[in-house]
Amino acid sequence: MSRNVLQGRRILLCVAGSIAAYKAVSLLRALVRDGAEVSVVVTPSAARFVAPLTFETLSGRPVRQHLFADAEPMPHLRATEEADLVLVAPATANCLAKCALGLADDLLSTLLLAARCPIVMAPAMDGDMWDHPALVSHVWTLRDRGVVVLEPEEGSLASGLVGKGRLPAEHVVLEAVMACLARRRDWAGQRVLVSAGPTREPLDAVRFITNASSGKMGYAVAEAAAQRGAEVVLVSGPTALASPPNVTSVSVLTAEEMWHALDARFSWATVLVMTAAVGDFRPRHPCSGKIKKHEWNGAPLDLERTPDILESLSRKRTHQVLVGFAAESGDLLANGRKKLRQKDLDLVVINRVTGAQSACGSDTNEAIFLPRHGQAIQVERLPKRLLADRLLDTVREYGVMPLPSPARPQNKEIRRIQ
Ligand SMILES: Cc1cc2nc3c(=O)[nH]c(=O)nc-3n(C[C@H](O)[C@H](O)[C@H](O)COP(=O)(O)O)c2cc1C
Repeated sequence: MSRNVLQGRRILLCVAGSIAAYKAVSLLRALVRDGAEVSVVVTPSAARFVAPLTFETLSGRPVRQHLFADAEPMPHLRATEEADLVLVAPATANCLAKCALGLADDLLSTLLLAARCPIVMAPAMDGDMWDHPALVSHVWTLRDRGVVVLEPEEGSLASGLVGKGRLPAEHVVLEAVMACLARRRDWAGQRVLVSAGPTREPLDAVRFITNASSGKMGYAVAEAAAQRGAEVVLVSGPTALASPPNVTSVSVLTAEEMWHALDARFSWATVLVMTAAVGDFRPRHPCSGKIKKHEWNGAPLDLERTPDILESLSRKRTHQVLVGFAAESGDLLANGRKKLRQKDLDLVVINRVTGAQSACGSDTNEAIFLPRHGQAIQVERLPKRLLADRLLDTVREYGVMPLPSPARPQNKEIRRIQ
């Protein structure tokens, strides 16, 4: 997303008392560098970690710290009425809990109740605190209410342990802030058909062939498109995920079922985003009962190809924009290009599926966007929900979609790789 989004926007950066408070200094510098007007609030605990003078100097504005301040009556109202967005980074367990419960006993908790603009919270804490049932339920409450609570990162923690609790990386926090500020209903009028998850190809009544897809990417795309105003139908293989709000979900099991479900809705759609990891092979003669252990003589499985859904829908296309996902190993670009050409797609998202960077099951993903017209775009590792927004931006920005094109991206962080 273009960092121009930050130009002239008023951001209230609230720093709570986490050991990660020092990272808020770098965050502040990045926001200011990209043109945001940043005011800072620190809690008394945060002020023990980083001197307010640091924030005051870098923001060029007085730092607010106390609810009952002599210099300014009602600082909780003054602070928020000026803001386009409130960013709490780092957000402590304490401030997440107070915000979820609606408590207001200090400046930060009171201004969070008064805020009428979007709120983004970037938690940082010990892994056991993040996993505590009280905190889990507070985070649900906040997200339900529309607060963007980012996932902390895995890694080494201040306690010396390794776990989930690190403040999300700076580029992830910035991306979330920009996505929130840019949030528009720019997909209104589009009808988006998304496929997600794995398929199951039965061998007998209880056994099947499947793959490691979690469905998270497709659900993220469906959620993003719905939030940006599109009508969305999500056709999903078996996953452990809840359907995103305002999305019509259709559950399927096999590749054949997924094909029928997508085929039946294809003429309705303006955009098809095919993230599903559809099984390529299925047992030719599945058994209707359960194969007994002693009945199997060790013969190799007799497999046949499943229908190639994307290729078959591509042949039927009238007006639809087609976005495919390519799970690749080896030469990612060459394989992606081949898929783009063979299936006559408008854009392919290439994911690596081997090694530590594998997209399968992960909450984050690193991808290459390969538009039919234009150069490949390397997208850095992002949470899948933010990557979904990037994908929707790219489909628009590269004129893939039959909508008025916004200004060309002047994105410093998009690296053209060929
Ligand atoms: C050295 C130290 C480090 C701390 N780090 C964290 C942290 O990373 N996350 C957190 O939620 N609480 C942390 N705490 C506890 C908070 O500072 C404490 O809950 C405090 O009441 C938070 O107040 P605030 O939310 O108003 O800033 C830490 C405490 C100490 C003494």
